[in-house]
Amino acid sequence: MADPHLPAVHPRPPHHWVNDPNGLVHHDGHYHVFFQYNPGSARHADMHWGHLRSRDLLRWEELPVALAPSPGGDDVGGVWSGNAVEADGGELVAFYSARHPDRWHQPVTRALSRDGGMTFTKHNGLLISEAPPGTTMFRDPYVWRDGDRWRMLVGASLADGRGAAVQYRSTDLVDWAYGGVFLAEPPTPLPGGGNTEEGWECAQYAPFPDGRGAVLVSAWDPKDGALCAVAWPGRETDGRFTTDGPQRLDHGPDFYAPALLPAPDGRWLMWAWSWEARDEAHVGAPSAWTDEVGWAGLLTHPRELTLAADGTLQQRPARELDGLRVGSPLTAEGTAGAGRPVELGGVGRACDLTVRLARGAGLQVVTSADGAEYLSLTRDRATGDVVVDRSRASLDPRAKGGSRRLPAEQDGPVELRVLLDHSVAEVFTAEGQALTMRFYPVGDRPWRLFATADGCDRAPYAVTAWDLATPA
Ligand code: FRU
Repeated sequence: MADPHLPAVHPRPPHHWVNDPNGLVHHDGHYHVFFQYNPGSARHADMHWGHLRSRDLLRWEELPVALAPSPGGDDVGGVWSGNAVEADGGELVAFYSARHPDRWHQPVTRALSRDGGMTFTKHNGLLISEAPPGTTMFRDPYVWRDGDRWRMLVGASLADGRGAAVQYRSTDLVDWAYGGVFLAEPPTPLPGGGNTEEGWECAQYAPFPDGRGAVLVSAWDPKDGALCAVAWPGRETDGRFTTDGPQRLDHGPDFYAPALLPAPDGRWLMWAWSWEARDEAHVGAPSAWTDEVGWAGLLTHPRELTLAADGTLQQRPARELDGLRVGSPLTAEGTAGAGRPVELGGVGRACDLTVRLARGAGLQVVTSADGAEYLSLTRDRATGDVVVDRSRASLDPRAKGGSRRLPAEQDGPVELRVLLDHSVAEVFTAEGQALTMRFYPVGDRPWRLFATADGCDRAPYAVTAWDLATPA
């Protein structure tokens, strides 16, 4: 029997380890999503590029592993993260980090496909073999077209303790000239705790109109490893990026290594890695529970990114995802009272909820027959924040607990979109803030929704809930 926590509408192979989305590109009429994949086990080791593709962002096809380490080669230690573009001749060119156990850095190289990513020919040797002077970490190329030339960012750490995205330029996608630092910042506190860290993995760049843009990075600490994803909105002037300051890209605990895809219609789409929150000591550490179930990690749903007039980067689920909704929705509207939760009805384990919550109102997704196991979303009466709490979301004591806050300051009701899929919750406010959290319910009954209220007040709510399934 499949593990009950394996997602149904988030595509991934049925077994083994998955981390970062890689090589996101629209090519040959398909969205291609490659990803860090260990085809041999559920542990973070021996990285290959797995491959999924879709015409509509709804129906996904799993294709053969696209890139594997070459025995005795520069990437013998793993084909690590990178991205892909369609070259002027129509070929698909993937750029990646070549890991070798004898090197502290992961140089950049590339592989080329003429058959839509089914088979790749690797470049003979490395494209960028040395890390630039002054760096102490260097990996994860991100290539984009800028007019008639190509540009590349690579994630880095500088010897002075700053996280950095360094840059290169090319006209032919083969010869790359170093262009210095694009953006480097010292560890800077983030709203809600944590900071932007000393090392930036998977640096990405989304240019927006009028010279504005956003650099996305994954905050990495040499001691604690992967921590969280950060957006640096700002603007580019004379080849350098100036930022207005950092923004937490996702307010949940389980979102990392976001990667961008420029869609043919001009939208910026973004996928990220949502790691496990089972019994591992830290991200990427071996876990007895993960070994038992034989799979780890998933890619979030695709999200659309926009830059608001005030410079805030906003995200919402890709509009195509409405096509996963099946049947007619459950709708409920009313007022809950303290100590008197209102049962709204049942939902499937993959579902899409639109939830309106006044301050003090809440929603519980109850996943056991006796009501003891539930994921809860409550609107903090004092601050307005939406508190997503998984401390009771699994009766299995191995699962990680805790809660996180999604900022929502307004006095009036907050409109939430909540996408659930077996063990992952992706929550969005109408203002474009997001929170991703893994949870591991063990109840074997259908899930039920309840409206709740804090204190002694009456709390208005409105909920619309669709079940989700991949269309035939
Ligand atoms: C981010 C990351 C990248 C690296 C890859 C290895 O999660 O550590 O920096 O290229 O994963 O799997």
